[in-house]
Amino acid sequence: MSDAPVSTDITWHRGQVDRAAREALHGHRGCTLWFTGLSGSGKSTLTTALEAALHARGVHTYVLDGDNIRHGLCRDLGFSDADRAENIRRIGEVTRLFTDAGLIVLTAFISPFQADRDAVRALHAPGDFLEIYVQADLATCEARDPKGLYRKARAGEIPHFTGLSSPYEPPLRPDLTVDTASNSLEACVAQLLAALEADKTAPRGR
Ligand code: ADX
Repeated sequence: MSDAPVSTDITWHRGQVDRAAREALHGHRGCTLWFTGLSGSGKSTLTTALEAALHARGVHTYVLDGDNIRHGLCRDLGFSDADRAENIRRIGEVTRLFTDAGLIVLTAFISPFQADRDAVRALHAPGDFLEIYVQADLATCEARDPKGLYRKARAGEIPHFTGLSSPYEPPLRPDLTVDTASNSLEACVAQLLAALEADKTAPRGR
């Protein structure tokens, strides 16, 4: 599919308040923290815990979570490769808008394909997008099985299940990797906060 809009008679309209003004008001810059990993790897747990830690420091945040977004914006999409690509494309556009709004947006999508994640990165200016690999091997995720989906997938009740009957491509060059199989949630959040602070993305609060 071409990246060009289908409509031709459309014009980009600039507002009076720009991103720099919004970021100045917030006291920090916007960016997208894109978490990718298998179902059960800990993406939702990590993003919500990191958001709470950032919020407590006065940072303006928003979490976009796969299961939640599939209740609304992407409720028309299933789990074929094409539908997953469209899911990630839409979310990518939303993260671009939220980053422009001056927010730190945290996403929790399996986003199994490198090409789809690269396409989202390409929507962002350099430095605005961090690909974060939530690393946990399949056996660990399956043992956790927080939603009972691996069990259902093994029983043949869920087709195209990531890690079993649909592929997961680990990031080739992640900006950050958190190992949730070997480290506690607290340790992973501390690792992410330290990395963001080193990156000057997360202020220490106001
Ligand atoms: S993605 O592949 O398009 O990025 P997304 O993150 O939106 O997936 O949704 C994944 C969530 O949907 C999983 O955490 C799980 O709860 C649920 N789910 C339902 N069916 C599947 C499936 N076939 N493969 C993976 N996850 C599924």
